[in-house]
Amino acid sequence: MPIETTASVVAEVPDDADLLAVPYASDLDPAHVVELHLPVRDLLAHYEAKGEAGEIVEVPVARAGGVGRVLFYGVGDGSPRALRKAGAALTRRVKGKDTLTVVAPEGDVAAFTEAALLAAYSFKIGNAGKKSVRSLAIAGAAPDEVRRAQTVAQAVALARDLSNMPSSVKNPAWLAERAAECGLPVRVWDEEQLQADGFGGILAVGRGSVSPPRFIQISYTPDEPVDRHVVLVGKGITFDSGGLSLKPTDNMKTQKTDMAGGAVVIAVLGALAQLGASVRVTGLIAAAENMPSGTAQRPSDVIKHYGGRTVEVLNTDAEGRLVLADALAYADAVLGPDAVVDIATLTGAISVALGRNVGAVYASDDVLAKQLVDAGQAADDRLWRMPLIEDYTPALESSIADLANVEAGSRFGAGSITAALFLREFAGRRPWAHLDIAGVGRSTVDEGTLSKGATGFGVRVLLEWLTRS
Ligand code: BES
Ligand code: MN
Ligand code: ZN
Repeated sequence: MPIETTASVVAEVPDDADLLAVPYASDLDPAHVVELHLPVRDLLAHYEAKGEAGEIVEVPVARAGGVGRVLFYGVGDGSPRALRKAGAALTRRVKGKDTLTVVAPEGDVAAFTEAALLAAYSFKIGNAGKKSVRSLAIAGAAPDEVRRAQTVAQAVALARDLSNMPSSVKNPAWLAERAAECGLPVRVWDEEQLQADGFGGILAVGRGSVSPPRFIQISYTPDEPVDRHVVLVGKGITFDSGGLSLKPTDNMKTQKTDMAGGAVVIAVLGALAQLGASVRVTGLIAAAENMPSGTAQRPSDVIKHYGGRTVEVLNTDAEGRLVLADALAYADAVLGPDAVVDIATLTGAISVALGRNVGAVYASDDVLAKQLVDAGQAADDRLWRMPLIEDYTPALESSIADLANVEAGSRFGAGSITAALFLREFAGRRPWAHLDIAGVGRSTVDEGTLSKGATGFGVRVLLEWLTRS
């Protein structure tokens, strides 16, 4: 479900607001926007408030209908990062309530509001848990900032929803239907069309499943004159059992979110018009279910990708790169973009390298890499640039095909890097970047802007990049 909390701007703070949030910093001086009739400094000192971001001091106040509350919220150093923490803490505190009136902090109100809305996200099947606050009425904010925050947060929520959906519902055809709901022109290749056009990677990965694969193309064309054309490619494995190279239970049970990259692409495309993006963007989602069965591909099979390159499949669990290779080759050959960015829960190895808070970006182009790292920093989807180490390219040599999908032995290691090197073979000579989000795609905590399960990581950095740089 989308985020049910809404945010709007109010011109004035009503005197009798039942729930009122007021910012303060370490000097314990709250915003002077409202007359509180409270000994504010003494109160904050009494509660030993420090003004840190995320800190909230709650004070009961007399109201006509009984007792109301003023929530003093710390804003730390007032940086976007601190304001995000403050915003998320506030909505988490007022669960189950109707309206929270918020005196906006000084600084990046869009970041503050976006975080407040994200903290209200939850994925529930049935009526479990407490409802989030129904509305945030923000005083002292610019309407366009709040509107942008709302659009971005809803896009993140859509990506989370798609990724959190159980795979018993979410097969490739279902994902294509959801993509078609984004309001943009969508083209979907079914099995027959995939066969006709030579998408051998997507077909090979999807062969073991009773739910056939799909290739999905979404097109956004801005009204204004176009300055560039970007292609986004998302990994859309609706469930990754590993295939015949079967995963152990503990590793398998999280793999309904293996289409998180594809979900991000759908959500980003759906938000571009509302954000007034002036870039032409084509979204591609390579969707398949990776299952073991009598029709599944075998370790040692050789497949032929879009464009004719052959690959020896040594491990059917390295399936993401197989479906992405088709999509990247198609983008290069047919779409002629100025830049290609793929996003994928590609390797467990990247969470060893970067953990759960920072995503990886690999790039063939320094300018593109820097743009993405900067956008990630600004949007709070942090990325770290990883190297494409040339010495490791022999890892993917095959004696019978153009390439192997994994290293046969263990001479090189570097699982996330060799996966990126594999993708590079199919990206052509255009500026290309690859985001490995296997570490950051899921959260184990319900905290701050994160909820347990899918994170929607990638939506904010890509929207930031496409609409602000
Ligand atoms: N979908 C997985 C990667 C993954 C692992 C995502 C953990 C999220 C959490 C991917 O398809 C995969 O299985 N990768 C293998 C590659 C290996 C066979 C070379 C891996 O990481 O073990
Ligand atoms: Mn896999
Ligand atoms: Zn996978």
